[in-house]
Amino acid sequence: MITVETVTDLRHSVAGWRAAGQRVALVPTMGNLHEGHLDLVRKARSLADRVVVSIFVNPLQFGEGEDFASYPRTLIDDSDKLISVGTDLLFTPTVTEMYHRPQAIQTKVEVPGLSDLFCGASRPGHFVGVATVVCKLFNMAQPDVALFGEKDYQQLMVIRQMVQDLSLPIEILGLPTVREVDGLARSSRNGYLTDAERSIAPALYQQLQRSVEALRKGNFVIASLEQQAMARLESEGFTPDYYAIRRAEDLAEPTADDKSLVILAAAYLGKARLIDNIQITLE
Ligand code: PAJ
Repeated sequence: MITVETVTDLRHSVAGWRAAGQRVALVPTMGNLHEGHLDLVRKARSLADRVVVSIFVNPLQFGEGEDFASYPRTLIDDSDKLISVGTDLLFTPTVTEMYHRPQAIQTKVEVPGLSDLFCGASRPGHFVGVATVVCKLFNMAQPDVALFGEKDYQQLMVIRQMVQDLSLPIEILGLPTVREVDGLARSSRNGYLTDAERSIAPALYQQLQRSVEALRKGNFVIASLEQQAMARLESEGFTPDYYAIRRAEDLAEPTADDKSLVILAAAYLGKARLIDNIQITLE
């Protein structure tokens, strides 16, 4: 694996591969890698001749008072893990390599509508930061295919919409959420949990599963299911942010005719903001 910090070096390597007719996959990350990330890299390995992984803690997608400064940066460990799963190139740009100009006047990519809901409502500007950095990474690495986790369901939708709207010639692949044995979705932010919080954390996924059961039993009073779930999470020690049962395709409120749904949730547990979701197809 080679590690490069500049766009020039990244382009140089990728240009050589492309000239040789090789297919390139990109896995964008913010580092502090876990099995969820490594699954994306393994899948990328199986789909392409060359695998590029980026590690960049993107200041543009963090709001004021969020954890940009304290976000775990573990490059040495991450490099070892990436070598073990067959990464060809690790791209670790600095903030100034990525953004030459001050944030306020940087050109940005916005996916309106989708970006304003749920995580976007709680974290204004977050998805503009995500779309902008992912668009830049696409232009820098020019991959044939890029892989993302369904754990960040709304993010995946924003990226798919951006690719469609801007006619980017890149295939987007979403992979299922990798979980701990007790169901907690793997996340770089799980390290913020104290032992006591860690033991409560799986209750978020358990609540999603309870809502799935209720929907399968024919309980389709969406607003009351959402309210009950918020109340239950609160009683278990979370500070819920949102809990929403939506149409999987466009995140609109479902009608009784909609069969393909997604339940999205975000809740604070101490310092950590946990997000999770579950997809469901009704008979
Ligand atoms: P990060 O949180 O590091 O996640 C990088 C990728 O790993 C994302 O596509 C995310 O959905 C996926 N991922 C994280 N946890 C996962 C899990 N438990 N199972 C499966 N996939 C998982 O998401 C970002 O970084 C950033 O917003 C980024 C897209 C890199 C833009 O800065």
